[in-house]
Parts: sequence; C-alpha cells; structure tokens
Amino acid sequence: MCGIVGYIGKREAAPLLLDGVQRLEYRGYDSAGLAIVEDTGLVVEKVAGRIVDLRTHLGERLPSGSLGLAHTRWATHGVPNDANAHPHIDCGGTIALVHNGIIENARALRKWLTEKGHKFRSDTDTEVLAHLIEHFMNGSLVEAVGTALREVEGAYGIAVISTAEPDTLIAARNGSPLLLGLGEGEHFVASDAAAVLEHTRNVVYMDDGEIAVVGRDGYDIMDLQATHVEKLVTTLEWDLAKIERGGHQHFMLKEIMEQPDSIRDTLRGHLLEDEGTAKLSGINMEDDELLAIDRVVLTACGTSWHAALIGEYMLEELARIPAEVEYASEFRYRNPTVDERTLVIAISQSGETADTLAAIREAKQRGARTLGIVNVVGSSIAREVDGGTYLHAGPEIGVASTKAFTGQVVALALLTLRIGRLRSLSVLQGREIVKALAALPDQVAEVLSRSQQVQRVAETFMRAQNALYLGRGYNFPVALEGALKLKEISYIHAEGYPAAEMKHGPIALIDDMMPVVFIAPKDAVYQKIVSNIEEVKARRGRVLAVVTEGDEQITEIADYVITIPETIDSLTPVLSVLPLQLFAYYTAVRRGCDVDQPRNLAKSVTVE
Ligand code: G6P
Repeated sequence: MCGIVGYIGKREAAPLLLDGVQRLEYRGYDSAGLAIVEDTGLVVEKVAGRIVDLRTHLGERLPSGSLGLAHTRWATHGVPNDANAHPHIDCGGTIALVHNGIIENARALRKWLTEKGHKFRSDTDTEVLAHLIEHFMNGSLVEAVGTALREVEGAYGIAVISTAEPDTLIAARNGSPLLLGLGEGEHFVASDAAAVLEHTRNVVYMDDGEIAVVGRDGYDIMDLQATHVEKLVTTLEWDLAKIERGGHQHFMLKEIMEQPDSIRDTLRGHLLEDEGTAKLSGINMEDDELLAIDRVVLTACGTSWHAALIGEYMLEELARIPAEVEYASEFRYRNPTVDERTLVIAISQSGETADTLAAIREAKQRGARTLGIVNVVGSSIAREVDGGTYLHAGPEIGVASTKAFTGQVVALALLTLRIGRLRSLSVLQGREIVKALAALPDQVAEVLSRSQQVQRVAETFMRAQNALYLGRGYNFPVALEGALKLKEISYIHAEGYPAAEMKHGPIALIDDMMPVVFIAPKDAVYQKIVSNIEEVKARRGRVLAVVTEGDEQITEIADYVITIPETIDSLTPVLSVLPLQLFAYYTAVRRGCDVDQPRNLAKSVTVE
C-alpha cells in the first residue's frame, strides 16, 4: 500500500528518495511522486504508473536540494492519475505533503476550505491536509500541522515540508505506520524500514498521536499537545541482502525457497524436547493465566486468516479449547462476545493491517487477553498486544505471502503445544509434536527440491480460466490458500472449498477444461477425499493431487500428483501448501504476470 519516504540532510535528496520509494514498491502502488525544496522554491513531480515512469519523467536532471519527500500511492479516493498522485501542495505552492491512510471527514473539510477560497487540484482526501495546514500557517510549520491534525478524523501517516522552513521535516502518525531513520547529519522518515535500511539501522518507531520535528542534526517527538515524548531507538536486525532478490527472478520465488530456513528461525529456541512442549516466553502468560482462558478467538485478514483457520483446528483438536476464527474486518464492527477469559490472537505478517490492528484494540477494550503472531518486529500490532511470538521469517517482499504463512502455522503449532500440554496432551503426545516440528525444515527442503516437477504441471494448466481447490480437515484452509495464491498472481479465477461441499455447488462447473487441485495427504480424512476425487474424475475433471509419498490409490486416479513427506496431520499444511505456492508462481510467470506486484493488490493494507 502507499509508501512514504522523507529526507533531510547534507546529500542530494532526490536520488535517495527515489531509491527509498523503490524499496517500498513491493507494498503495491499505482502512482508515484516527489517534492524537493530547491533554493528557488518547491519542485513537485508526480506521475501515474511506476517509479520507473517517474524516473523517465524526471530525466537526467533531478531536482536539487537536501530536503524532500517521496511517495507511492495506492488509490483510495480518486483514480490513479498524475493529479491525484502525492505529494500534494497548498494554494501558495510552498507546502508539500505526503499521506498514507484515509481522512474520513475530507468531504466536509474540503467544502469548508473551498468556501474559504482554497482551490483544489485533485480528487484526493489528502489534498485537504495541505490546504488545512496552509490555513493554519500562522507561526511555525509544526504548529500549523498540529492544529490541522486536530481537525482531522481518520487514519494518517504524513510527512510535510515547506519552503518557509528549509531545515525542518515534519512527520505525524495516527493509525498508519511511520518511523524515523537516524543517520549522521541526516534523517529519514519512512512508512517501512526497508526504505532506510541502506542508510541506517537505527530507527525510532512513531506511535499514534505523535508529531516529529526532524532536522539535520536532531529530532524531537511530541504528542498532539506539544509535550515532548521520550522514544526508544531500535536497531534493525534485517540486513540489506534480505530485502534483495539474491539471484532469484522474483522475491516470491526467493521467499518460497527460503522456507526451510525461515521455519527453522520460527522454531529456534522454542522446542523443549524432553518436556514435550514449547517455550514461549514472549506470550507473557503463566500456566495459571493460560488455564484461566476458556475460549480462543483468532483474527486476521487474507493469507493470515487461512493460517488462523488451521490454528482453530489445532487448538480444538490438540489443546481441546474452543476456538473460532474471525475476519478482523468483521470482528471489529460486530459487537463480539469476548471477555477476560477470552484469548484473542491477531495473526499478521506485517503487523500493520488496519483491520487486524483495530480488531485487537476492540478486543482489549472488552477486557480480552491479546496475543500477536507477527513477523515484522516493532510493528503496530506487535506493540499493541499483551504478548506474542515473532515469526523471525525475515522480510517478506513479494505481495503474495508464502514464508509468512508457513511460519504462522508453525507458530500456531507451538502455541497449541504450550496450551495443549497444560490441558489435554500427555508428555508423549507432546514429544511427538515436537519431533514432527523439528523435522519440518528438512521436509520442506525436500518438497522444494521437486520444484521442476511442479513447473511442468503448471505448464499444462497455464491457459485455464478457472480452477477449483479442494481439501478436507487441516487441508481445507490450504485449499483456500492455494486458490488465493493462484488468483492473486496469475489472475485465474480460483476457488477453495471443503472437498465434500463440492457436491453442493462447484461440481456444476467441472468439465475437462477445469483443473481441480486436491490436497489429499494421508491423514484422518484420506479415504473420504479419495471418494471426492472419484466424483470429479467421473465428470472428466482434470485432477492435480498433492499426496503423501508412497500413495498408490490417488496416484492411480489423478492426472498429476505431487508428493510430500509424511508428518502428523496438524502439520501437513506446512508441506502441502508448498507445491501450491510453486504452482501459482510458475503459472503466473508463464502467463507473463507481474508476480511480485500483482495488479490492484497491496502487501500491507493499512486502510480499512
Ligand atoms: C494483504 C496481502 C496479503 C496478506 C494480507 C494480510 O492482502 O496482500 O498477502 O495476507 O494483506 O496481511 P498481514 O500483514 O496482516 O498478514
């Protein structure tokens, strides 16, 4: 989704800003722009399209100055055209502003400002902020920004510059992530650490309701009442190589292939072999507190929601605790029945998804205990929850989530183990799960070593218009995830269904043109799914099945099979999803799609 980079220092800002927003490309966007304070005034350049289009538009001569802003926009209000791209400026052309989020009372403010004589150039909600700041500009820039923000309802992360104050960069946050990157004689403002990593590892994460006044040699962070706030400097662990493609054609493929390591990192230090349990000190809950919980609600969006479904199955089957899954966007507006005996778990790769963050706030307000299963360290959700566990899967850049998903399932298995051992699992059962978890990284590597086989199958299905993904039990959510991967990046319409439900609708679609992907490892529902495959074959459907090594029954009836090693039922999703990730990837590549930045999608959805 939208990306912000601001710079104040001694170097030329424009090249740094362009490189910075390029690092944020992965978040998804449809237009880009930059503003630089030159000696002679403000220069603003912006275009619909990609950063490469902005670079072409700028040509050889970049605007010159050491203070500036850049932005990638993902359209919410107003189509993605040049005028709606950020930065936006005031009537006088001295203030430039970039914004992530949505100003909810923009319409009313626009009307009010228009009546006061302000002329608008775009259809965006953001532009009202530039005019509002101009309207209140009566002393310093920070005062005007603070006054303007008090009039605003909605979510924002903003950065503002003005020709009147060439030594100041202002940043403010309310509901949309923002951080300061601290350098020597220079500072950055960014919506994502990836934009500043090349220049500094020292960052300060801003919190909601804070304004930062950033200069070349220092910065001050205040609340909206202008009271100074003491902030922690965080050192980023990710290195630059981790946010680069490292020889792979796409980030998505790199991240798929990284899964043996990312899962190892998610497991690191958590498995207690002898006790047959998991150590999760980050959840900040003692045994008695865990035992006092009588219900778990898992909340998330997108791929993380699919991981949550697997968590629900695990928690109920193995930890014998009632669990349910809620789309975060529904939970937050649904008057949910949670109380202090409910454990609400937010699952989020980015830790910034607006709906998931709001859901966790709602849960807290109702007295629930909250946990986060999050990848990005220091992200908003990670800071909001009472405790949790990080995936440590490393940065995920490809818009289609892959290694975060397997990490989330593994983290949920750890949590299930921890709760399950207190409630229902014997030490022997616990040890079996520990053993299966420890074996996963090598098994994942084994599945991925057969990527060429998946590539060949993808070739045969690449012209499909529709696809059906079917699974049962733990692999029903995998069917949903496989279908999501395919539609996200290859634009083939795909649906995931519980295999038995096929008879209640999707079976009508099956013909010899329709690929039907079965996720059918040898688990408790194996024989049931064999019958479902027979039903599809009886209607001339083309079947690709993900099966356990040594499976003869399905191998005989399916058109194509991809095998995975044996594991316990609850962990089969970690292995069975891998061929589906690869299948979507190779299909999309063959169809010439932009795998890492699929159309209209955003990596981190910071608006509701
Ligand atoms: C977007 C991404 C998905 C992701 C979802 C939830 O839609 O494109 O890949 O699953 O957001 O994101 P989160 O960061 O909360 O896991």
